[in-house]
Amino acid sequence: MLSRHNANLITGIGFIIILISLAGCKTFESGGVVVPPPQIAGAEFVGMETCAMCHEKITKNFDQTEHARIVVSNEGIKDQACEACHGAGSLHADAQSKAEKKSTIVNPGKTPEACYKCHLDKKAEFNLEYHHPVPEGKMSCTDCHDPHSPGVKPGSRASLFDKNDLCAKCHKDQTRPFVYEHEALREGCTECHNVHGSINSKMLKQRDANLCLKCHYQVNFPVIGSGHSADRIGEGVCFSGGCHTAVHGSNYDDHLRQ
Ligand code: HEC
Ligand code: HEC
Ligand code: HEC
Ligand code: HEC
Ligand code: HEC
Ligand code: HEC
Ligand code: HEC
Repeated sequence: MLSRHNANLITGIGFIIILISLAGCKTFESGGVVVPPPQIAGAEFVGMETCAMCHEKITKNFDQTEHARIVVSNEGIKDQACEACHGAGSLHADAQSKAEKKSTIVNPGKTPEACYKCHLDKKAEFNLEYHHPVPEGKMSCTDCHDPHSPGVKPGSRASLFDKNDLCAKCHKDQTRPFVYEHEALREGCTECHNVHGSINSKMLKQRDANLCLKCHYQVNFPVIGSGHSADRIGEGVCFSGGCHTAVHGSNYDDHLRQ
């Protein structure tokens, strides 16, 4: 068996290789841009197997997560995924006291900055006028995404949560059962809402009838039934003109009018 010292020596050599390779052009396998992991002075990379010794629950299904695909270098070293977000872990693994454990590893906590390092496009989305209050610090990315679980993207095949269950945690009014349900919701809330942010109020994907017409193809539009919807334009569109105001479902009306 390797002693801790020898293991450190070997990971130390590994670290030098990583350092050398970091000088080259780094890319994710997915084609994105690699960012340097958080810096922890004097620490070396140890790889996920080491983390697994003490954080069994988090590591158990980690190889099935999207984030397990993060590689620190383009040399194909794959098991540094934990350390890509938490920083190199050797000092933390060796630390004895709880306080020392905490001071030798980065816990990104609730701040979105840790995620923006790689998902910069999301920062731009949250800067749009209507957004979930993540930039205001009232919510975090991890309210909706578990960076350790398979299916970090809600609604993806491996995810424990379908998208609507996730929303139901906080939005009971739209997710309760209705006598007359709107089948659109079965496709998911995100058919109509851009949940990171939107230029439209209520984070709608479109502000006008196009939001509805993408599924309700109407041959005669803007004539619907016997009425011309242009008559109603002053009042609003399908959902805001006083017509189908119960877009999420209704207990009273099968045409979702109240
Ligand atoms: C020898 C056991 C051990 C190893 C190996 C280990 N950890 Fe830990 N880690 C702990 C303990 C114990 C705590 C809890 C300290 C506490 O109770 O707050 C902890 C806490 C953490 C925290 C939370 C720190 C905080 O400020 O709340 C993170 C993040 C973490 N570990 C990541 C890792 C990563 C990543 C690896 C692999 C590179 C790793 N750990 C390897 C024992 C270990
Ligand atoms: C994509 C970035 C990312 C990756 C990869 C990642 N973590 Fe984390 N980790 C986080 C974030 C963010 C938090 C803080 C979560 C929170 O406070 O809501 C966290 C928290 C933790 C904690 C503190 C306890 C907890 O559950 O809050 C431990 C321990 C931990 N991670 C270990 C690991 C290990 C081990 C791996 C690799 C198997 C890993 N992490 C991979 C982002 C990541
Ligand atoms: C070190 C870079 C890095 C960091 C930091 C990071 N991610 Fe990722 N993330 C990735 C990569 C790489 C993928 C895989 C992308 C792909 O396969 O197209 C990914 C995938 C995802 C996905 C799934 C995307 C999809 O289309 O299925 C979500 C959701 C996600 N990350 C959220 C987060 C959150 C939340 C945080 C912060 C806690 C975070 N990420 C931090 C690199 C990172
Ligand atoms: C209110 C819940 C919520 C919050 C908060 C949230 N997300 Fe998401 N995110 C989602 C949902 C739902 C999806 C799936 C979108 C879809 O399928 O159309 C998603 C998808 C993603 C994806 C996959 C690519 C895409 O756009 O479909 C990434 C990456 C991601 N989120 C990163 C983040 C980051 C980074 C943060 C914090 C800055 C964050 N998310 C905050 C709910 C949320
Ligand atoms: C952890 C709690 C939480 C989760 C999960 C969550 N939201 Fe929210 N949502 C909020 C908060 C907080 C606000 C801001 C409320 C405010 O500003 O009054 C909000 C606002 C909204 C708004 C705008 C409301 C308005 O009146 O302008 C929409 C639309 C919305 N969320 C949809 C979703 C969808 C769709 C999902 C699932 C993908 C989701 N939310 C998941 C907490 C959450
Ligand atoms: C068919 C499109 C559509 C779907 C699917 C949809 N919404 Fe909405 N949602 C809307 C429209 C349109 C509004 C704005 C209504 C208005 O302005 O009167 C809205 C408004 C909201 C609001 C703001 C409060 C309100 O009722 O006005 C929240 C919160 C919300 N939706 C959450 C959700 C959640 C959660 C889901 C999934 C369970 C969901 N939505 C699915 C179209 C949709
Ligand atoms: C993701 C697809 C989708 C979107 C987007 C969508 N719907 Fe629907 N809607 C359906 C499906 C599927 C049904 C049930 C089958 C049917 O009646 O066409 C339905 C049924 C309805 C019904 C009840 C049936 C009826 O004939 O009266 C109304 C009203 C309705 N939708 C209004 C809207 C409005 C208003 C919007 C825009 C805010 C909208 N829908 C957006 C898929 C969608």
